[in-house]
Amino acid sequence: MTSSAVSKNSLCESDADLWGFNNFTDAAVNEGFFYDILTTTKPVGPTITYNDDEFINFASINILDLHQTKDVLEHFHAAADIYGLTTGGSRVTQGVCEAHKKMENHLCLLNGQERAISFASGLLANLGFINAMSCKFHFSETCEIDNSDAIFVLDHDCHWSLWKAASHLKFGQQLFSFKHNNPTDLRKLLARLSAKHDKIIVAFESVYSADGSIAPMKELFDACEQYHALSYVDDANGFLIYGPQNRLFVNEFAQMKRATFKMVSFSKAVGMEGGAITGPEKYIHAFEVLSGTSLFTAAIQPPTASTIDYIMYKLTAQPEIMDTYLSRSLDLRQRLAERKLQLNEDPSYIISVLIGQDEKAVKVYEKFLEEKMIVPMFRYPAVRPDHALIRIMLNAHHTEEQINRFVDVLCRLQKKYGF
Ligand SMILES: Cc1ncc(COP(=O)(O)O)c(C=O)c1O
Repeated sequence: MTSSAVSKNSLCESDADLWGFNNFTDAAVNEGFFYDILTTTKPVGPTITYNDDEFINFASINILDLHQTKDVLEHFHAAADIYGLTTGGSRVTQGVCEAHKKMENHLCLLNGQERAISFASGLLANLGFINAMSCKFHFSETCEIDNSDAIFVLDHDCHWSLWKAASHLKFGQQLFSFKHNNPTDLRKLLARLSAKHDKIIVAFESVYSADGSIAPMKELFDACEQYHALSYVDDANGFLIYGPQNRLFVNEFAQMKRATFKMVSFSKAVGMEGGAITGPEKYIHAFEVLSGTSLFTAAIQPPTASTIDYIMYKLTAQPEIMDTYLSRSLDLRQRLAERKLQLNEDPSYIISVLIGQDEKAVKVYEKFLEEKMIVPMFRYPAVRPDHALIRIMLNAHHTEEQINRFVDVLCRLQKKYGF
C-alpha cells in the first residue's frame, strides 16, 4: 500500500493533541532529538548507503562484518534450504528446529553451563529472565512456583531492557541498584538485604555499551557469593570478544565461570540477531514457559540460528579474526589519545570521545554527516546534560583510508569547537 493510499483516521488526528504526540514528535524533530529514521538500501557494514548516498559507518555494532563474507552467506543459504525460513511459532507449542538445538548446545559448551535457551533478541532474553525469576505461577496444586518475593539488585548503568523488565517491582522494596561498577556499594546493599531476604539476584554487564567500561567481576562475584545471591551477567558486549588469555581483561573474564546465569546477544561479535541465556538445567528448562518471551513469541529464524552456530565455530577456530580486530581498534584508540581527546577509561573496543555541551555535540554530529560519516552521538538524556559524547566502534572491514579520514575530521572539529 502506498502512503497516499493510507486514509487518515480523524479520531487519531485530533487525539494526537490530547495524548501529546503532536507536540512531542514535532518538538523532538525541530530540536534535533531525533531525525526521521533513515532507510538503508545496501548491506550495513563499514559503509552504509541511504538510497544511493554512501557514508562511512562508525555506528554498527556488527563489528566483524561477517555477514558479508562468502562462507557465512553460503552457510545461511544452505541452512535456509534445509530448515526453511520460519519457526512457525513458539518453542513450547511445536518444538524448536535442529539448528536451534545445535546452536544452544554449542553455546553451553562455550559458556561452560548446563543448558541454554535462545530468544529472538537479547532484549527478549533480559525481559524473559526477570519475568521468570520474579513470577508466581501454577499449572496445578503440585506444579507451582512463587518467586514474587525475590529481590533484584541491578548495576545502576544496566541496559534499558533489564530496568524495563524489572519495572513491575517496587523500587526500594524488591528492586535496588548499586553504583556503577562499585563492589563496595553492592556489598553494603547485600549485607543489609541478606539479613531479611533469602532470594536475591544481582545483575550486571560484562562490558557496558554506553561507556565501554568493564565490570570488576572478581569483587562483584565475591560479594554475591558472600551473601548467597545468584548472579546474572549480561555479556551482550563481551561474548566471543574477551576471555582468551592473550586478550585484554583476561583476569576479569576468567571470573565469568562464577556466574549463575550468563546472557549473550548474537547481534554484536556474531553479527546476526538473537539472544540467549545459559545457566543451571532446572532453571533454564522452566524458562521455556516462565520467561513469557519464549512462550508467547516466535524464535530466531532457523537459518539465522544455524549461521550463529557456524560463526561461533568460526570465531573459536580462527581467533585471529577477533585478535586482529581488537588490535586495530586499540591502535585507533591510541591515535585518538595522542591527540589529547578525552576517551573512556577502560580500553575496550567501545570508544567514546567526550564532546561536552549538547549543542556542540549536535554540530559535531552534523559536520560528520557533511563529511559522509555516521558517528553516533549520545547526549542528554542518554548521558548527563552537557556531557555529550560520540561513541564509535571500528568495523573489521574499515580501510586504513577510512580510519584516517575519521581521525582527520575529528581533529579538525576538535580545533574548531574545542573539546
Ligand atoms: C548490554 C546489552 N544488553 C542487551 C542488549 C540487547 O541485545 P539485542 O540487540 O540482541 O536485543 C544490548 C544491545 O544493545 C546491550 O548492549
